Amino acid sequence: MGSPLHLSLLLLLAAAHPGGGIPLGRPAEQVPGPRGSPPPPSGTPAPFWVHLSPQFVAVRPGDSVWLNCSSSCPLPQECSLRTRLQRGKTLSGPGWVSYQLLDVRAWSSDVLCFVTCAGTSHGATARITTYKSPRSVILEPPVSVGGEYTLRCHVTHVFPVGLMVVTLRRGGRVIYSESLERFTSLELANVTLTYAFRPGPRDFWQPVICHARLNLDGLVVRSSSAPVTLAWNPASKVWASSSIAVLVGILLAVGAAYLGKCLTVQSQA
Ligand SMILES: *[C@@H]1O[C@H](CO)[C@@H](O)[C@H](O)[C@H]1NC(C)=O
Ligand SMILES: *[C@@H]1O[C@H](CO)[C@@H](O)[C@H](O)[C@H]1NC(C)=O
Repeated sequence: MGSPLHLSLLLLLAAAHPGGGIPLGRPAEQVPGPRGSPPPPSGTPAPFWVHLSPQFVAVRPGDSVWLNCSSSCPLPQECSLRTRLQRGKTLSGPGWVSYQLLDVRAWSSDVLCFVTCAGTSHGATARITTYKSPRSVILEPPVSVGGEYTLRCHVTHVFPVGLMVVTLRRGGRVIYSESLERFTSLELANVTLTYAFRPGPRDFWQPVICHARLNLDGLVVRSSSAPVTLAWNPASKVWASSSIAVLVGILLAVGAAYLGKCLTVQSQA
């Protein structure tokens, strides 16, 4: 396919929560205190390390998660966890305390563990993120009208849309890719990508696949559609056409009912 003569982006945003829009790109909620486990200053009587693991974990909204805070302190005076998340059970053993956090719904939360050893405190952080991989990625059979073909890819029930990239590949090669980072809604959403173009001879009989990729910190969740093939319609004589126009549109439908309630809790925090 040739280079697009014009590329226009159509945006229809059906936001259900006018008040709930905090940008996804903002930093995670900060818990006061030092980050990581800094090297102890020289002269500290008892140098020790603190680890909170896993350091990054992505869960489905509503899931619970265990974080294990361990340290090299032989006799900790105190071990505490700072978080706005709801706590569950606690387990402990020599040199570690494991904390359960319940019903994680905030998009991103930083959790801090502090250990005090011989009068000195060190902390370590972990980040918990929620996501929802798409329920389905469906590429509709191409529709051709007057030599122009339209591909429509539906990605349903996905969160967060702002961390998603939708890509159309034909015969393994990218024909269109879009990062949806401008969509900052904290709602579960359906996304429809519409791609209209005038194909050239090489565009036919090659499978086209729609890919949705969620790029979470340290975790990539991929989903793909079944392949569809562009069938050449001789009546349309498309490759005689010299103008190759491309039109791209994104339609985002945001689900109010599902994640809305839980995530507004976070936006008020
Ligand atoms: C927590 O971490 C410590 C140190 O790595 C390990 O020995 C312990 O088994 C862990 N506890 C749990 C519940 O995973
Ligand atoms: C998203 O798509 C699913 C299934 O196609 C549908 O049931 C649901 O109502 C849609 N949600 C929105 C917000 O459009």
